[in-house]
Amino acid sequence: MKLFLDTADLNEIRELASWGVIDGVTTNPTLLAKSGFSFQEVLAQIFTIVDGPISLEVISEKADDMVNEAQGIVKKTPEKYRKNIAIKIPMTPEGLKAVRILTREGIHTNVTLVFSANQALLAAKAGATYVSPFIGRLDDNGQDGMVLIEEIMDIFNNYDIETEVIVASIRHPIHVIDAARIGADIATVPPEILRKMAKHPLTDNGIKSFLKDWEKVKK
Ligand code: G3P
Repeated sequence: MKLFLDTADLNEIRELASWGVIDGVTTNPTLLAKSGFSFQEVLAQIFTIVDGPISLEVISEKADDMVNEAQGIVKKTPEKYRKNIAIKIPMTPEGLKAVRILTREGIHTNVTLVFSANQALLAAKAGATYVSPFIGRLDDNGQDGMVLIEEIMDIFNNYDIETEVIVASIRHPIHVIDAARIGADIATVPPEILRKMAKHPLTDNGIKSFLKDWEKVKK
């Protein structure tokens, strides 16, 4: 399973990419606002840090405007990095139209704010490179988000659909384990969840006791 970082914080991306486990990055307007970095700064630097799909979201609501915005992002990105752009498009009928046009132009898309298997199916049929079901927000709403991932994976496997599933809106490390067991293509994880995935108190205790015992070793 591929792991993407769900953040627009360039410092976090730089640090966590150095672990060697990050395959891509997803951003959205909320993550940009939280990061303190401007869209221009992110656009200028993010491709130089991670060599993998980078999702950048459009904020237009009409298909033509979404397409123009997406083309603008592509134009501003140096040619060698353009293969890594994934334009995040909200899951609406206008979004589907935009996905169809961008797909024909060879621009990768990530259909976001997916909350049902039917939405995922439609996004895939429009040609989306990725779909992003938001499981944490479903959990928050009293619906089991992981069931949605099972449904989408079943449907995509039944028809050999090439669209990749990005499990998004991840709230804790168990979400990542469950997504991996189901066979989801990608989990996009906030930095704090990646850190939790790496940590175990028994690892820390083990290191402490090994270091202590090393002092007793005759050298
Ligand atoms: O890519 C953003 C998505 O993962 C949303 O996360 O925590 O705002 O529901 P959250």
